[in-house]
Amino acid sequence: MYRLAHSAEYQEKVYQELLEVFGEPTLEEVTSENGLHITAEQYKKLKLTKQFVEEVLRVNPFAFIGGGRILSDDMIIRGYKIPKDTQVLCIQRFANTRDEFVPRANEFIPERHEKGSPIGLSNNYISTPFGIGARKCPGSRIALHELHMAIINTVRHFKLEHSNPESFPPTSYDQALLYIDLEKNPLYFTPRDHLKEHFYSLKQSKKNE
Ligand code: HEM
Repeated sequence: MYRLAHSAEYQEKVYQELLEVFGEPTLEEVTSENGLHITAEQYKKLKLTKQFVEEVLRVNPFAFIGGGRILSDDMIIRGYKIPKDTQVLCIQRFANTRDEFVPRANEFIPERHEKGSPIGLSNNYISTPFGIGARKCPGSRIALHELHMAIINTVRHFKLEHSNPESFPPTSYDQALLYIDLEKNPLYFTPRDHLKEHFYSLKQSKKNE
């Protein structure tokens, strides 16, 4: 949500993609029990929305210490001999934010995840927000669907902004998770035109209570 709020350009591009795939947003989508009906065909057509999430997970991998393992054999990694039974941690942010592995690594560019992009990641192991191998996160697909749905249902109905457009809010960490402190960095959701009247009447009826 902070990335959407921080980048008016990508927020608008995602909004335009959603318009193309789902048509004009309606008040009914928000107020009805079932919300927006999304078919598998429509979901497949989403490109930038999915690339946007991939780029968010590269730049802000909130499970930033993923892939903790205990070595079953001695190993040599970049010239260092690491003995069997050592606990090793893979700290993704090192690879994720180095130009050596990701061209213009410190820039937020969702389109780099397009196949064949000249600024694409140098291999499939650079950004692994859900870990890798037999113990990879079993919830990754659910999580991605949830994130896509959250973006669809937010961007279609609200414009997002945050309190300091000059710089992206700093991340804090808590044990192994990264997060942005909402109290210090408020997010603002402004209803788009089709919701304004609805919000206005809700506000009026609250006032009259
Ligand atoms: C965006 C959201 C999520 C992120 C970034 C995330 C990330 C991760 C990471 C990095 C690991 C460690 C993988 C490894 O050691 O290689 C993990 C493990 C795990 N995740 Fe997730 N996860 C997310 C959501 C979920 C959800 C929604 C579920 C359940 C529905 C889930 C269930 C699990 C479980 C059970 C493990 C332990 C797997 C094992 O040790 O075999 N996660 N997750």
